[in-house]
This record gives sequence, C-alpha cells and structure tokens, in this order.
Amino acid sequence: MSSAQLARTEGMALKPLKPSRPAFFDANKLPWAPWVIEGTHFKLLNIDKKTGGMTILLKVDAGNEAPVHGHVGGVEGYVIEGEFGYDSDRGGAGSYFYEEAASLHMPDSPRGTVMFAIAYGPIIGYNDDGSVAAIVDGKFMYDLAVKHGVAGHLAHLSDFPR
Ligand SMILES: [Fe+2]
Repeated sequence: MSSAQLARTEGMALKPLKPSRPAFFDANKLPWAPWVIEGTHFKLLNIDKKTGGMTILLKVDAGNEAPVHGHVGGVEGYVIEGEFGYDSDRGGAGSYFYEEAASLHMPDSPRGTVMFAIAYGPIIGYNDDGSVAAIVDGKFMYDLAVKHGVAGHLAHLSDFPR
C-alpha cells in the first residue's frame, strides 16, 4: 500500500461491513431447467420484487424462433455462446444487447445461444391473435425455479404474499 493510499484510509470513519450473505454464487452448480418457450432453458440468478424483473442465464436450442413477446422494462444482456437477433440486427458471442422498454419482437437463433440477461420488468408473451398468453415476472420465475428444484440459492427471496 502506497503512502498516498495509507493517508486516505487512516482515520476513515467507514470500514467494510460483513455482508449478510455471500456475493458470489457458482451458477455452474445449477442445472438448466426448461423455460416457458419450448427449446429454451434457464438458470434464475436473481429477481427484483419491486419491478417484477429478473436476472437469468438463458440457453436457446438451435433453430429456435421465439413467439412474439414484449418487454415492460428494458432488457440488457451479454451473449456468451452462439448468436441470436431480429432480422439483420444480430449479435454473437461477446456481444452486448439492449432491448428497449415496450419493445415487441420475435428473435430467432438458428445456431442456438447462451446469454446472460437482466430484465427490468416482466416479459409478456402473446398469442397469434394478440391476446396475452403469459406474464413472466420475477415471482413467476421464482415459482418456476422452485417447481424444477433450482431455487434453493434464492430462498432469501421466498416471502411472497400467498
Ligand atoms: Fe426480447
């Protein structure tokens, strides 16, 4: 530690606090569970009870074309493997993406993909006639993770009204 750093830490009123739970979770220990669209799989990493959002790893099998869906809040993420996109707007491994709030789209992934994504609100799935087929929010995702036995690491978030 340099003398300049020492000067900044000596006499500080603040010091690191012991966290209430670990910051890290090894997602490799979590098996993939089937998601709401056939040929897609998820690992639920976090949910936001205030917004209905969620943080997930999403794996999409090759050749998958998602039905039309919308986003109440924006979604941002990072493509880890494969590639996906909408018409000519596409990204492969290493690409960052941002789907703006209120977007309505139908992505495809001919070769499959694995991505990390944070949804800042629920995802709305639509039927062909435009009616709502499903609202996928944080609680829905938590319950789905419980159903598949992959929510043990999120037990601290389990106190939903029932
Ligand atoms: Fe989307």
